[in-house]
Amino acid sequence: MMRKILYLCIFAGTLIGLTACDDGRLYEDESPIAVEGRTVNLLAHLSGIASWPGPEYYVELAGFGDDSEYALISKAIPAPSTEGGEVSIQLAGIKDNVKRVELCVLNRLRKRVLSFYTIEEADLKASSTINVDAGTLNVGMYHTMQERVFNTTCVNCHGAATSAAAGLYLTEGRSYEALVGVPSVKMEGLHIVEPGKADESVLYQALATDVSIAENWRYNHTAEVVNEDILALIRTWINSGAKE
Ligand code: HEC
Repeated sequence: MMRKILYLCIFAGTLIGLTACDDGRLYEDESPIAVEGRTVNLLAHLSGIASWPGPEYYVELAGFGDDSEYALISKAIPAPSTEGGEVSIQLAGIKDNVKRVELCVLNRLRKRVLSFYTIEEADLKASSTINVDAGTLNVGMYHTMQERVFNTTCVNCHGAATSAAAGLYLTEGRSYEALVGVPSVKMEGLHIVEPGKADESVLYQALATDVSIAENWRYNHTAEVVNEDILALIRTWINSGAKE
């Protein structure tokens, strides 16, 4: 904010010979001044935005530099008035150090956890204003876990074939009912997912720590989860109520 004000002061100063700008109306008067950098206008039909619990996570339009997962610039995407409704969002002031702009989920450190849509560098550099339609996307927290975790790594053993390990089906459409509030067959007295209590949920315990020796499991499940961010996401999902 201060930088923007300073910039406006210098601009106005050189332009019309002013040396000070203590009158707050300068913003209105000078509104035609172009914001430095590129602008992305993104249109999308989105569902599931409200399922991400702030301040842990936000769905944002964010710019990233080379080799960094931390956003250099970002803007939170508002939930549409109806699920699946149209959202239009503008990200302005995108500087040259931004190499990609993504519709993504950022955590509270502004690190990208998951990405749904990417505008690559070539498209970003093509013009100063980029208009894109990201189409229809379900960015819901549970839906994303299903697609990015269960479908890719778990269903091989949990339900894609005719049987499911431990009787647990993690396939689309079945996983939620099979997980939430369901008594564990492997750890007596616990639920697979206990809403609000990740540490008491078998799903989280088995992915976060190697329970295979203590609980006499065949598989050490910690190898199944791809990274710490996804593990944190599963933890937050359970602790924020394990909603579908
Ligand atoms: C290589 C096969 C395999 C894969 C892949 C696999 N599992 Fe399992 N899973 C098992 C087996 C077998 C058991 C029963 C415990 C044991 O013997 O290891 C089990 C048990 C479980 C249980 C305990 C169920 C209960 O009732 O207590 C949960 C929860 C679970 N798996 C979740 C997952 C998740 C989530 C993934 C993906 C991230 C996954 N599993 C990937 C084989 C697998």
